Amino acid sequence: MAEFEVIQGDITQSHVDAIVNAANTTLLGGGGVDGAIHRAAGPELFAACVPFNGCPTGEARITPGFQLSAKWIIHTPGPVWQGGDHHEAADLASCYRESLRLAVEKGCHTVDFPSISTGVYGYPLNAAATVATQTIASVLAQSDTLTRVRLVAFDPKTAKVYRDAWEQA
Ligand code: APR
Repeated sequence: MAEFEVIQGDITQSHVDAIVNAANTTLLGGGGVDGAIHRAAGPELFAACVPFNGCPTGEARITPGFQLSAKWIIHTPGPVWQGGDHHEAADLASCYRESLRLAVEKGCHTVDFPSISTGVYGYPLNAAATVATQTIASVLAQSDTLTRVRLVAFDPKTAKVYRDAWEQA
């Protein structure tokens, strides 16, 4: 089975086949990791996103990485936390599953994820990490093309929570 790792760092610096962007449904950029990725990839990324005319929560769209080291960027709008009874867990699981499906479709072997929805979108970190690691584990168990998936945490607390969640996945 492909390996899963948690590292702490800036996902815009990842040298991988694909990085995942925690986008919003407009796909036209924003703050947080979305803003960082758009700044690092350059203006061609915005131009490549316009034709999608947005993306529903839980789905994913793929563009080239442009000025990033990563070949591809997979954009997926995570759920906004609304208390937990608005299918947030299902939507978040779909973000990870659909992103990996697109990555495999493009022949990617290495994929880096940020901690989707746990920033501006307010998804509780422990709950999000459980959904993310369980979804990633189930996809990796059935994939013979993915070799490594990483969660790139921006801070030590996030890294620890995902490491602990992976132990339980
Ligand atoms: N590399 C890796 N992780 C990062 C980076 C980075 N350069 N910058 C921020 N993060 C982390 C945050 O610390 C958080 O742990 O990404 C995680 C997700 O936080 P957000 O970027 O706020 O994403 P999210 O909670 O999914 O909210 C999405 O925010 O930026 C807007 O346009 C975006 O509207 C969308 C919303």
